[in-house]
Amino acid sequence: YDNLVKDMVNIAILGFGTVGSGVYEVVTKNSKVINRKAGMEINIKYVLDLREFPEHEVNKVLTHNIDDILNDDSIQVVVEVMGGVDVPYKFVKGALEKGKHVVTSNKALVAAKGPELLHIEKQKNVNFLFEASVGGGIPILRSMSRSLTADVILEVMGILNGTTNYILTEMTENDLAFDDVLKTAQELGYAEKDPTADVEGYDACRKIAILSSLAYGKTANFEEILTEGITKITKIDICYAKKCKSVIKLVGVSKNNPEGISAFVAPMLLPKNHPLSNVNGSFNAIFVKGNMVGDLMFYGRGAGSLPTASAVVSDVIAAARHKHLHVDVDWTAEKMEILSNDHMKVKALVRIAGGEAEQKKALAVFKNGEIITIDEAKDEFAVITGIETEKTLSEKIEQLSKDMEVRNRIRMEASE
Ligand code: HSE
Repeated sequence: YDNLVKDMVNIAILGFGTVGSGVYEVVTKNSKVINRKAGMEINIKYVLDLREFPEHEVNKVLTHNIDDILNDDSIQVVVEVMGGVDVPYKFVKGALEKGKHVVTSNKALVAAKGPELLHIEKQKNVNFLFEASVGGGIPILRSMSRSLTADVILEVMGILNGTTNYILTEMTENDLAFDDVLKTAQELGYAEKDPTADVEGYDACRKIAILSSLAYGKTANFEEILTEGITKITKIDICYAKKCKSVIKLVGVSKNNPEGISAFVAPMLLPKNHPLSNVNGSFNAIFVKGNMVGDLMFYGRGAGSLPTASAVVSDVIAAARHKHLHVDVDWTAEKMEILSNDHMKVKALVRIAGGEAEQKKALAVFKNGEIITIDEAKDEFAVITGIETEKTLSEKIEQLSKDMEVRNRIRMEASE
């Protein structure tokens, strides 16, 4: 094998946090196989971080100055694993403009600046690679952009956030409340100190925007994607889910309908036999439907140091192999029209306070509705609605709210 490794590529890692230290470990531990697959030695020449790591061998290659990296012509691949948008954007753009390949795991950066950075990489004849930005270690983006090229993609649906999937799984399996699970998850280091981006669905929203852009070839603006998180999901909601032989999952969905593309992120009730229902804990899964290949599912660790680093390093190897060749990705700057949510077809479980009188009124509004009750909450009931548009669903809930208390509304699949 060693005979095959004749060349060398120098890389720089921006950020020595969870992912950056994982990248260092993967490159060091798996150097033999990595060098063989790259056809050259991958050498970490710099690591950029504001901190010092006196106890770690990384200190030998540590720098605090980005210019050391940008001005070093021997650096051919820059790995951005810092997080945030503004500073990484400046560094990544600077690296591409200097003719360096860039690999990133930063979904916020890719969702916000993807088309612009893809334009620069093309001009500079280098590669901007971001496999780790969606689904952590799951090889989903390369599958979308390199393997599923013979298909019209009809649908992408995924559990795209490990933190929220862990929280919902714990709530379901151990009968716990949202706040308690979040606290434990933070203590264990699974959830960030500021968990807003995860629990409010913003992280999953950026990921479904990236997946949609690669699936349909235009730029999805994540700000136009309806996004709801899991902070309003309670123990009682989980009881209703169990009664309906379903589970609640935070899903990102994007559909290529005949009338246009629709997309959203929201907690949904999925029947227990749905392929995404058994994706538990911090795992992610992405379900893709192509018009020729049919249904596909990708499953694995969507977060964590080594799984994410595995995807980052696979991109470093791809960059090394193509170091003199720009490989195009089908993602143009043209804006993707996303259908107004008003027309999106949904069903929902609507929880309402009250008894028989309220049930009658609710059924007068949701004419095809079905009433269900649970022992855990005797002062309320739920209506499972028929198929509605998002607009009529909201209007009907508003109408009911005038003389009764609507406690929650959770969407369900509306495909039957
Ligand atoms: N916070 C993210 C998650 C990390 O929980 O899935 C990976 O993007």
